[in-house]
Amino acid sequence: MYLDNAATSFPKPEKVYEAVLHAMREVGASPGRGGYRRSLEAGRILFQAREAVADFFSISDSSRIIFTQNATGALNLALHGTLAAGDHVITTSMEHNSLLRPLYALRNKGVELSIVPAGSDGVVSVEDIRHALRTNTRMIAVGHVSNVCGAIQPIRQLAELCRTAGALFLVDAAQSAGYLPIDVENFSIDLLAAPGHKGLLGPGGTGFLYVASDVPLTPIIQGGTGTLASAEEQPLIIPDGFEAGTHNLPGIAGLQAGIEFIRERGVAAIFEHEHALLNQAEQALRDIPGVTIHGPSDPFARCSVLSFTASGVDSALLATELDHGFDIAVRAGLHCAPLAHRTLGTLPGGTVRLSPGWFTTSEEIAFFSDAVVQCIKRIRKAA
Ligand code: ALA
Repeated sequence: MYLDNAATSFPKPEKVYEAVLHAMREVGASPGRGGYRRSLEAGRILFQAREAVADFFSISDSSRIIFTQNATGALNLALHGTLAAGDHVITTSMEHNSLLRPLYALRNKGVELSIVPAGSDGVVSVEDIRHALRTNTRMIAVGHVSNVCGAIQPIRQLAELCRTAGALFLVDAAQSAGYLPIDVENFSIDLLAAPGHKGLLGPGGTGFLYVASDVPLTPIIQGGTGTLASAEEQPLIIPDGFEAGTHNLPGIAGLQAGIEFIRERGVAAIFEHEHALLNQAEQALRDIPGVTIHGPSDPFARCSVLSFTASGVDSALLATELDHGFDIAVRAGLHCAPLAHRTLGTLPGGTVRLSPGWFTTSEEIAFFSDAVVQCIKRIRKAA
């Protein structure tokens, strides 16, 4: 049983597999790399996928979508492509290493960094961020939903703060895209980084960065773009100049199919489904003596994941027992977000995290809950 959709979603909708195979078997060519019909068809798939992403996130100009290999690629482009020595960036203690590590690297090059601690429930205070503002604050960079405890951050208020402060607003939607409505232009998001392979149900190796039209962006990879071939300089045209090299066309075709699948059901229905499953799991886990759920106590203040610890039980061992004894896949440990675990008080062992998906059933959550009870008993007995 797969309960690690926060790492990547599985299974994918049937039409995603079909779209990948169609691009590989029937199309085969690379977009923008030839004038023959197969290449033109590949270009059409690429364009339609860009349109689908733009439409889904209420972005009026799809050419502002840059396809990347994952959210990490999108975040690296957003950060390295906009920041320079002397700029100040504010982020939070709930961030994933995909956001923190590029920022640490930039700090070594003269970018000033403030990491605002979230509360012990994982939610960051807008006032605390406001207090961290400086005259040279160039960006506020925040993960919409914590990959550790599911805490939803107040991105609308943070966007407003950015507007007032004249700072760019970068949202990492790794755990929210496909689960929560994100209306990019209405929310005043300048840069949105998202994976294609999690909540959007696309294949691995997909992601994108949206960049607003007034944000200057520098490419961080140089290479062939299929355009302006005689220029020595990397073209600055978005998206071409920022997608050097051959596209992951099968992946991008699958991403479009994933988005279509979500649209047919509606983000609200998907949120409802996951919310019900997470509530069911939470209620069952709370009945187990010594189990603590981490993150916001209000179930509507979190989404997509549930993290817990059991006293006297090593989180990694519990996850291994669940896998080996019951064929249940959950992720334990630090989830590439050590500062988030420090904030939640779950260092050094981290937590056990479950993240159901659209295809997870209530029966599976009941099976999972029983399995947790049995594993905890066994581990405590053996200790
Ligand atoms: N960021 C992904 C996770 O939280 C990989 O598991």
